[in-house]
Amino acid sequence: MLSQKMQDIINEQIHRELYSAYLYQAMSAHFEFESWGGFAHWMHHQAEEEQEHAERFYKYMLDRGARVILKGIEQPPVEFGSALEIFQAAYEHEQYITASINAIYELAVAEKDYPTQEMLQWFIKEQVEEEKHASENVAMLERIGDRIHALMALDRQLAERS
Ligand code: FEO
Repeated sequence: MLSQKMQDIINEQIHRELYSAYLYQAMSAHFEFESWGGFAHWMHHQAEEEQEHAERFYKYMLDRGARVILKGIEQPPVEFGSALEIFQAAYEHEQYITASINAIYELAVAEKDYPTQEMLQWFIKEQVEEEKHASENVAMLERIGDRIHALMALDRQLAERS
């Protein structure tokens, strides 16, 4: 049985993952509105992955006989800046998510909760990938600056994410 503290922190994480999905979907909508189809596709894909992350935590809670409590999801921003600013925000958001997963892991270690430690291994690896992809996009956009043809080439490249 998960401790009450563990149930509370995982319920908060489910909320964070669902908010992440909402945030990336809002970024996707913005890019689509601005006719950056490749960036929109990349963010839409990211939003779908966040739903899957929430689902993993949700299923783990139910498998352990814990109570899932879904919280209200805040409205994400409507106005966004440049592509670089958006991807920087996504990278910062991923760093925040990594820190929150590390905090759950630290609690699992303190409580000698071995199943939760094992379940979190997947997320720890996933966050390495998430931060890597987000920071690569930021680095490319920094290099591109305002060269429109290079920006269009990156948009085409990110349209290929599957
Ligand atoms: Fe669910 Fe992007 O971390």
